[in-house]
Amino acid sequence: MPRRAQLVALLVLGGGVAGCSGVQTALDPAADQAASIEVIWRTMLVVCGVMYLLVLGFLAWALWRARRPAAVDDAPLPAETAAEPALARGLTGWVALIVAGLLVLTTVSFLVDRSLAEVGPDPLKIKVTANQWWWQVEYEGDAPTDRFTTANELHLPLNRPAVIELHAADVIHSFWVPNLSGKTDLIPGRTNYMAVTPRRLGAFRGQCAEFCGFEHAKMAFDVVVDPPRTFEAWRRHQIQSASDPVTAEAVYGKQVFTSQACVMCHRIQGTDAGATVGPDLTHLASRSHIAAGALPNDTGDLQAWIADPQGVKPGTAMPRVALNSGQLNAVVDYLETLK
Ligand code: CUA
Repeated sequence: MPRRAQLVALLVLGGGVAGCSGVQTALDPAADQAASIEVIWRTMLVVCGVMYLLVLGFLAWALWRARRPAAVDDAPLPAETAAEPALARGLTGWVALIVAGLLVLTTVSFLVDRSLAEVGPDPLKIKVTANQWWWQVEYEGDAPTDRFTTANELHLPLNRPAVIELHAADVIHSFWVPNLSGKTDLIPGRTNYMAVTPRRLGAFRGQCAEFCGFEHAKMAFDVVVDPPRTFEAWRRHQIQSASDPVTAEAVYGKQVFTSQACVMCHRIQGTDAGATVGPDLTHLASRSHIAAGALPNDTGDLQAWIADPQGVKPGTAMPRVALNSGQLNAVVDYLETLK
């Protein structure tokens, strides 16, 4: 496409032409809900863009008329009767245009709003609880053994509707994965719901979208849309308890973990650590980020996070646990076995 045509298409269609794809953008929808929202976005862009250009056009025309030679102004005024019907027609047309534009916006908004509230058959049920500043994710199931808890990472099967139940443990947060749907607030004492039907495989980034304190910006999460079989394998694995460490270093790490303050906040299913104040770490090593998207999940960053949580995320509830370097290395070695 020639460059000028591409630019025009970009302005009119509002993206999708070049440079609008990504893991955190509303212009690259990967679910039914985000696709509906994109329709509103494009409609608003076209309707408001046309009105804006018309207003600017009339303004330019008025300015041009006002700058005509003085002689014209001194000329006798045309008969008022000749000008008025044209003015009246112009105003009527203008009002009609505004009403039509508002009608289009209202109708599209109404239809999209309805489609966002629809939930497909046999939805996957997930409960997300926002905390300062991380996300607890609970997969619900008919049997207690089907339920499991994870943190800061959701997996969704392709083409299956999911209903996400949204809670807040402390202040108001907002759950937002632009590629999948719009924002929905998580409000203490209230339950909100969001439906998502993913239509494209991939990993997307979600972000808290309501200012919730110091580390609001570092309250992100990952959403992975898997083929149904991969999702099922992931689910089965997540239900399982953590496997016992094998190497001497990791065995020592587990011993340090369960004898230090770590157990006051974290749970590792299958061990003595059973607290739920902080993120569940049963399968920590299977996640791509730590500290709610603040750092990638690798050895160096895990060490940095445990050694100095306040340095990474000032204000975080995670305290600095006094570990010597041998203990720190061992704990990280152990955490990395929690696949
Ligand atoms: Cu949670 Cu902003």
